[in-house]
Amino acid sequence: MDTPPRALITGATRRVGAEIARQLHTDHELLLHARHSHADAETLAAQFNALRAHSAQILTGELGDELARTRLADAVGTAPLDLLVFNASRYARSDLAAAPELRNAELRAFLEVNLVATWDLALRLRPLLVAAAHAHGDAAIVVILDIYAQRPLPGYEAYSISRAAGAMLVQALARAFGSAGIRVNGVAPGTVLWAEGAQRGETDAVPARGTALGHIGSPADVAQAVRYLASARYVTGSVLPVDGGRSTHL
Ligand SMILES: NC(=O)c1ccc[n+]([C@@H]2O[C@H](COP(=O)([O-])OP(=O)(O)OC[C@H]3O[C@@H](n4cnc5c(N)ncnc54)[C@H](OP(=O)(O)O)[C@@H]3O)[C@@H](O)[C@H]2O)c1
Repeated sequence: MDTPPRALITGATRRVGAEIARQLHTDHELLLHARHSHADAETLAAQFNALRAHSAQILTGELGDELARTRLADAVGTAPLDLLVFNASRYARSDLAAAPELRNAELRAFLEVNLVATWDLALRLRPLLVAAAHAHGDAAIVVILDIYAQRPLPGYEAYSISRAAGAMLVQALARAFGSAGIRVNGVAPGTVLWAEGAQRGETDAVPARGTALGHIGSPADVAQAVRYLASARYVTGSVLPVDGGRSTHL
């Protein structure tokens, strides 16, 4: 391949997304998506471009907004896209006692960001993935999910529902896209980084002792799984837990 493969990563500029970007940058040209973290995006892109000229570009947009998604897909351009990593997510508590219109709007917001945006961008960008599969023999989508796609996280019902639907999206698109040479897989992290702000105390309640390994993971563990799924040419429709064996305790 003359030019490095191209990868788009959503929510790419901080925390887990930035680590995925760092690990993929070794052998990919990166499109770094940011919503609000513009300064972090500039810093990260500058680091990457200093290491290798023109190797990183910033794209922006609110994933919950259909028009913004259209603009984002347009900004990806027309060159083949080898890898699409859906890392951005909406994560917040549910208030089951809220007024019906509020709690319904809240569920819709979770579904829009964590499910519809993935569906929408995967389908909009499918022609670029097909072109990459033709040119390079393989193209891949990796969706970052959560161990709480399989069982609900108490207090985070809408989030958990959106993640469970995301796990089915992985399987459905893997089947729909497979004949075009596009693989679709998921990564389901356990706790790898404490949530920020209001969620911190709640996430701290997730016990490291609830894992087989006895400690929480790191963003690098998730990034390593993304790298594996990006290159595992006979793996599709799978969701890989990166949870220190937490499933053995639940
Ligand atoms: N941290 C963990 O231990 C853990 C555990 C299980 C699963 N996960 C999953 O792993 C992924 C990365 O985790 P993380 O903790 O690093 O995530 P995070 O910090 O909560 O969010 C990652 C990025 O998503 C972007 N984002 C959020 N809402 C958005 C929206 N409506 N439109 C566009 N972008 C939006 C934000 O970008 P801006 O900053 O640019 O606004 C944010 O920086 C997420 O999918 C998360 O659910 C994480």
